[in-house]
Amino acid sequence: MQRNMDLGFFSTDISFENSAAIVTGSSRGIGRAIAIELARQGADVLINYNQNKDAAEEVQSEIEALGRKGVIIQTDISNIDAHEQLLQTAHKAFGKVNILINNAGITRIADILEESPDQFDLLINTNLKAPHFLTQRVANYMVENEIRGCIIYTLSISDSMASDNRTAYCISKAGLEMSMRAYAGRLASHWIKVNGIAAGVIDTDLSRVRIPDYEEAAEKGYIFMVRPGTPEDVAHATIAAMRLYDTGVVLPASGGVMTPLLNLRSMSELNMNKS
Ligand SMILES: NC(=O)c1ccc[n+]([C@@H]2O[C@H](COP(=O)([O-])OP(=O)(O)OC[C@H]3O[C@@H](n4cnc5c(N)ncnc54)[C@H](OP(=O)(O)O)[C@@H]3O)[C@@H](O)[C@H]2O)c1
Repeated sequence: MQRNMDLGFFSTDISFENSAAIVTGSSRGIGRAIAIELARQGADVLINYNQNKDAAEEVQSEIEALGRKGVIIQTDISNIDAHEQLLQTAHKAFGKVNILINNAGITRIADILEESPDQFDLLINTNLKAPHFLTQRVANYMVENEIRGCIIYTLSISDSMASDNRTAYCISKAGLEMSMRAYAGRLASHWIKVNGIAAGVIDTDLSRVRIPDYEEAAEKGYIFMVRPGTPEDVAHATIAAMRLYDTGVVLPASGGVMTPLLNLRSMSELNMNKS
């Protein structure tokens, strides 16, 4: 390795100045927080949304207030034919793209005994096939242009924890984790870092309905962190994953949900230590 070589995100001193990011699904929730945090760190950001134009415009204003460029594009990411336009819009606006955040995702509730093939296809196409092939397109662009970039996937604790009423979601996220690892292996020799964040129960439109369950579990001591996660918690983990001395790994932002814990509070009443 040559001295003074630009190692991009493989460097020991990572800077986001002069960076340009695509953040899918950045009009609301976790993507919104990641887009704003990237701008705060010095990056220009392409904001992608599907339906909520007003929300995307609010994110754009926040990014511009931080002194960075924010460009909006409406694209349903499950339409793979639209990925080229997504990439070219960012490239034209910023001159390059060196960061991709695969964040857009949806969930649907359905009992595994009743879930329809159409519902399954919707989840797989949006949450798995779309980010897998968007990564392929952006990775080829980075390789062709010798850009030493970084690709982060918003993954989930549902990669490894089953929910029998959200099974297609869990399957899509489990598959996506493997997509992340495979690209990390393929792209390491091109100095492109690829990592994932396993988000827990985060207070967004997608998960708000689960917050009372989280709080009850935390109160009973089954979960370490006494509060649910915020989109900003995941944004901070995303920046950490970009700075990490590693590629092909999943960093948790899950509030201890994944920490094995048998906390049977009522056991203390037995007072086993009494002689
Ligand atoms: N919240 C959690 O507890 C949690 C936990 C683990 C993982 N995650 C993952 O984190 C990611 C973001 O979730 P969130 O909680 O922030 O959800 P959210 O609040 O519902 O926001 C979803 C974002 O994705 C966009 N989007 C949805 N479908 C899209 C499509 N087909 N094409 C383009 N954009 C689309 C939405 O755009 P519009 O505003 O236009 O609809 C919005 O910006 C998802 O991948 C989710 O699986 C979330």
